[in-house]
Amino acid sequence: MANRVVLAYSGGLDTSVAVRWMIENMGVEVVCLSADVGQEGTLEGNREKALGAGAIAYEELDLREEFARDFLAPVIKANALYEGQYPLVSALSRPLIVKHQVELARKYSADGLAHGCTGKGNDQVRFEVSSMALAPELEMLAPVRNWGFTREDSINYAAEHSIPVGATREKLYSIDDNLWGRAIECGEMEDPWAEPPEGVWKMTVPSATEERDLVIGFEAGVPVSVDGRTMALHELIIELNHVVGSYGWGRLDMVENRRVGIKSRETYEAPGALAVMMAHADLESITLERDLQREKLRLEHRYAELVYDGLWFSPLKEAMDAFVDASQEPVTGEVRLHLEPGRCFVTGRRAPKSLYDYGLATYDAADRFRHADSEGFVRLWGLGVQTWSAIQGPGSR
Ligand code: ARG
Repeated sequence: MANRVVLAYSGGLDTSVAVRWMIENMGVEVVCLSADVGQEGTLEGNREKALGAGAIAYEELDLREEFARDFLAPVIKANALYEGQYPLVSALSRPLIVKHQVELARKYSADGLAHGCTGKGNDQVRFEVSSMALAPELEMLAPVRNWGFTREDSINYAAEHSIPVGATREKLYSIDDNLWGRAIECGEMEDPWAEPPEGVWKMTVPSATEERDLVIGFEAGVPVSVDGRTMALHELIIELNHVVGSYGWGRLDMVENRRVGIKSRETYEAPGALAVMMAHADLESITLERDLQREKLRLEHRYAELVYDGLWFSPLKEAMDAFVDASQEPVTGEVRLHLEPGRCFVTGRRAPKSLYDYGLATYDAADRFRHADSEGFVRLWGLGVQTWSAIQGPGSR
């Protein structure tokens, strides 16, 4: 059994109760790590809460820049959307947090890590598998999975042990958010037919009424500017969240397959992520050679599955990153998005190394395409099915 663990500490009810519960029931010392990954709530008060619950130390890290650079840039380049839709919001912050838990474990000579996830979700998988990959020698404690408390029990436990928590008995939704978006689960939405109440949305509350354009600039597959203003990736995403979100665009409502075998109804809002990935994929349409683009499309689904399933740190994911990176050098250029209430769509793209050749594409007088070449090409292209038809297919009957 571990003697000292580093807990990924959100400051919420579960992780606050977990501090004391692990001390009492698992006999460990607890170091708390609170990470700023761009979530809405502040970390203010977390130090007092963690130490008040009995932690021996509290560390707070602003990870927004690293999150954008090392976790969001790769998924933008990979157009990674789980089951074709979900931009992997929660699946991306977990491996980053684990990386820093491991660093703190070394700093505090801890021999274990801990998280506050339940046994039904994906996040436990991501925390634990990331830890197994980065520091196989560390033990991982999952108190919330062990204690069998209801929310009521947790609140009572906090009261009995004078653990400062701001929680109320009525909590409708389970929310996880960061720079890349926001996931809203539970409440009435556990019925997949029930429409999400308007009140669940925070990042996509419509307020803008004027139509406008937004030009996103990319360098080697990574967004670097908005309307010609260069900015750091985390700032760019924050800006896109505000602008695109104000048009009420960027919501998802889906039933997804969790790693643990449950189908779950999920609502997400990720205005910046979805806009920037739409723009990136579009820029690839003019900058990637056909076979490379097609093969990449096939890999993108697999890439998203790996990340979703907790395999951020894995040899296949590493090899796929190498493939994706090798494809991105020409993906430099600009994409123009048009925004109007409830809508966001591409209206133009350009790139210095665009493969779009006007002389080949045009139907006007500038046409340079050699039409006569097509005759022989098509005859050979169809030769196989022509032979099949005459001997076995419709032509033989
Ligand atoms: N279903 C999403 C995922 O697995 C969102 C998870 C959100 N986590 C939460 N604690 N509410 O990535």
